[in-house]
Amino acid sequence: MTQYKITFAPSFKEVACKEGKTILEAAREAGVYLDSYCAGKGKCGKCRVRIIDGTVSPVTNNESELVRTTDREQGYRLACMTKIFGDVTVLIPGETVFKVESGKKVFAGRSRTVHPAVKSYPVNLTKEKTARDGYFEKITGFLASQYGLRNLSADISVIRKFSGVIKDDENTITAFVHMGKEIIDVRPGLDERVFGIALDVGTTTLAFYLCDLRNGNVIATASITNPQVLSARTSCPESVIPLTIQSRASKRCRRN
Ligand code: FES
Repeated sequence: MTQYKITFAPSFKEVACKEGKTILEAAREAGVYLDSYCAGKGKCGKCRVRIIDGTVSPVTNNESELVRTTDREQGYRLACMTKIFGDVTVLIPGETVFKVESGKKVFAGRSRTVHPAVKSYPVNLTKEKTARDGYFEKITGFLASQYGLRNLSADISVIRKFSGVIKDDENTITAFVHMGKEIIDVRPGLDERVFGIALDVGTTTLAFYLCDLRNGNVIATASITNPQVLSARTSCPESVIPLTIQSRASKRCRRN
């Protein structure tokens, strides 16, 4: 079958696509994730794109309902309804490309008590740094005496960092300990910041939360449309649906 080149502005990502594929499918293959709330059924109107150049399928009834005539005259189409029949250049409007936003998914109220797997500990080496070797014993000794962390281990790659972070003019380093058992990193000076990412895998949205593990504060959030929604639209291939949501997706397929 004939292949055509699809170019997505403004990133100018390109992908080769078989004739008859939709713009939404091509976008997904190019790694350009469009908002597609109805999973490509032509019902939500979220996947609006503007055809700048090229040959595509005629306007469908769904598009006539969801895209205003004046917009259609400017080349606006629904990516999930528009099939490719030649080399095409597509402009992705700002409201259509996947969102980095804080409002789409929010945390429910919850306890502020956090128990992170990784904690940071200041280590004062005032008396210890005169000798240039034996840092592992000195650091683990300090962590045991000051914080009760005993029998700590550390990977050789972390141990090699010790001499690099311990400066002659700096009394303190910060050690990061995983589950109270292993030193997984050290930083020079007092730098107790430690972050984690929470990932919420939903059927239509993937949401990411960058959290300060010291207090549970959410520093930044981002969400994108789950790429699986395009696959679920036509055949519901369970092999590509993560196990955590497989049962919900299966029910949806039976209903459809
Ligand atoms: S109209 Fe909903 S994804 Fe295209």
